[in-house]
Amino acid sequence: MKRKSGQNPDITKNWKPATLAVRGGTARSEYGETSEALFLTSGYCYDRAEDAAARFAGEQTGMTYSRLQNPTVEMLEQRIALLEGAEACRATATGMAAMTAALLCQLSAGDHVVAAKAAFGSCRWLVDTLLPKFGIATTTIDGRDTAAWEAAIKPNTKVFFFETPANPTMDVVDIAAVCAIAKARGITTVVDNAFASPALQRPMEYGADVVAYSATKMMDGQGRVLAGAICGTRDWIDSVLLPFHRNTGPTLSAFNAWVVLKGLETLDLRIRRQSENALKVARFLEGRLPKVNYPGLESHPQHKLAMRQMEAAGPIFSLYVGGGRAEAHGLLNALELVDISNNIGDSRSLMTHPASTTHYGMAEEARLEVGITEDMLRLNVGLEDPDDVIADFDQALRAIGR
Ligand SMILES: Cc1ncc(COP(=O)(O)O)c(C=O)c1O
Repeated sequence: MKRKSGQNPDITKNWKPATLAVRGGTARSEYGETSEALFLTSGYCYDRAEDAAARFAGEQTGMTYSRLQNPTVEMLEQRIALLEGAEACRATATGMAAMTAALLCQLSAGDHVVAAKAAFGSCRWLVDTLLPKFGIATTTIDGRDTAAWEAAIKPNTKVFFFETPANPTMDVVDIAAVCAIAKARGITTVVDNAFASPALQRPMEYGADVVAYSATKMMDGQGRVLAGAICGTRDWIDSVLLPFHRNTGPTLSAFNAWVVLKGLETLDLRIRRQSENALKVARFLEGRLPKVNYPGLESHPQHKLAMRQMEAAGPIFSLYVGGGRAEAHGLLNALELVDISNNIGDSRSLMTHPASTTHYGMAEEARLEVGITEDMLRLNVGLEDPDDVIADFDQALRAIGR
């Protein structure tokens, strides 16, 4: 592999995010290919047995096995780290593999975690079910309330865990304030940045220690593959995450890494256009529905904070139809262009009913506590002409008598 400019820190340090998204991390083979090479290989060969021994002993650079290293996956890891402004990144097979590894790699029985209540259903399951099963105590709080983070700290608190904006309530956490509280107490902050992506929000600039992703969402951006990523300091990735990652194997496939590399090239363009489209659609729906939760709208209670820490509000928001499940399902069923789908970050407009899909596994009481009611829907606004999306909502709302 030729170490071309995409991996040269002296050159990449002056590159702006849009350049990093296209070229960051690129390592060309001897063929000089323009696009990143896809290395579909499980293993690697050695010229001599002594070379194999030296690589396993860490005395010789080079790859040994694709659970541990792969050239295509490594290009993706370097590109994400550059976009995030992180020293290092490790890719994973899914976003949930990233969240699980980011938490379990640093926690032991007897530790305590404070987490925001408003979160993706499986992230809540990690906090409510998996961690306690292994003797790790957890406290969930209203992540919007900065004082609640401080109040929940115990002598054994090791980690703060939150997503912002949160799925699907769109609660916004003050990253700088919460990370400052954590830092003062030696607590590690893990931020799930799936909704914003590094193109709109870089939590490390506000003091986050670890940033984890579902790269399935905006990074792929076209609904093709599942992927995840964990960013941190070089020391944290090497000494805390890597032993867990290498030995438990939540590794990303080279093919999926290649697809996400291609996705990153257009991330900036897509997320900015989708944010513009989402704002237009949210403004329309705000005039027709009881409530729309979009941090890009002035009516969102945390609009100012969101706009301080995000460059745009992203493609996703939630809304309340009024009534109950029948009304919410009625609107979904009446849509002709917008698909019923529980994925997000796609270039297509997709809508789902969280209480019966993404947050079905959460206890009803916990759902209601954060505002996931039966009449709530979550929308991902795609790259279609927003006027067509608005026209679809207009006809669907009229079809259900609104
Ligand atoms: C905020 C958030 N975190 C994590 C995940 C999990 O990602 P994946 O489906 O790639 O495992 C999701 C999925 O929707 C999500 O919305």
